Amino acid sequence: MTKHKFPPIVVLTGAGVSAESGLPTFRGTGGLWQGYRVEEVANPAAFRRHPELVHDFYNWRRKALLDPRVQPNPAHRALAELQQLVGPEHFYLVTQNVDDLHERAGAKQVHHLHGELLKVRCSETGEVWPWVTDLHVETPHPSRPELRGTLRPHIVWFGEQPLKLTEVYRHLQQCGLFIAIGTSGNVYPAAGFVQATPPGCRRIELNLEDTPTSPEFHEHRRGPAGDLVPALVRELQVLWDSSSSEC
Ligand code: OAD
Repeated sequence: MTKHKFPPIVVLTGAGVSAESGLPTFRGTGGLWQGYRVEEVANPAAFRRHPELVHDFYNWRRKALLDPRVQPNPAHRALAELQQLVGPEHFYLVTQNVDDLHERAGAKQVHHLHGELLKVRCSETGEVWPWVTDLHVETPHPSRPELRGTLRPHIVWFGEQPLKLTEVYRHLQQCGLFIAIGTSGNVYPAAGFVQATPPGCRRIELNLEDTPTSPEFHEHRRGPAGDLVPALVRELQVLWDSSSSEC
């Protein structure tokens, strides 16, 4: 029987992992949408006041994601390979991204902390459906025609609770290797995940530049995720092979 003494891995990804796929980040240059900051449109009060404006923002982002030129990049693919190699009991992928590029690269059980762009939710019933077209105030409810204007993007807005946080903290507490990729460390609770890992956990940050949470990490690798992630995964593959022992 093959036994592995490999530390459980938690990977946190942010907008930077999808930047090389052609999706803009939030806080880089050009991070504004029609003059609005994301915080101004991604919040429940904005949706109550100007639902069409908020729908327009997510319709635009959904269209951008479905552009055939937007495809998973080597970072997404390397993470999917790592998951396949070490297995789900050793690998937990939590993303702040609402795109589906991890899944398209082959990753399974991706935890979308901030929701998913290709899903809508009924704010009355909580039901969630896959969605690839534009959404408007007048879009009919899929199963309850008497409900009007209750459909919203399945996105966690500012001021709302990220999805399944208890599950994330459970994984963080057991984790022996924490890797943060392409996130600016500005938005909590995700920015605080690194501090929730146990004292012996190895913490690696992959980013183009330093972030406010960089001091919490043991290792910093600077450059594009499309280069850094495949290189790190190759290193981990070697460690994984050497951690296998016959018993
Ligand atoms: P940000 O836009 O805040 O940060 C992106 C990070 O990726 C920055 O630190 C960049 O330096 C880095 N980066 C950019 N291109 C990169 C590349 N090619 N390779 C490696 N790193 C790169 O995005 P997030 O941290 O994901 O929330 O933002 C967190 C949350 O803020 C988002 O989920 C969203 C936003 O408001 C909601 O909408 C609720």
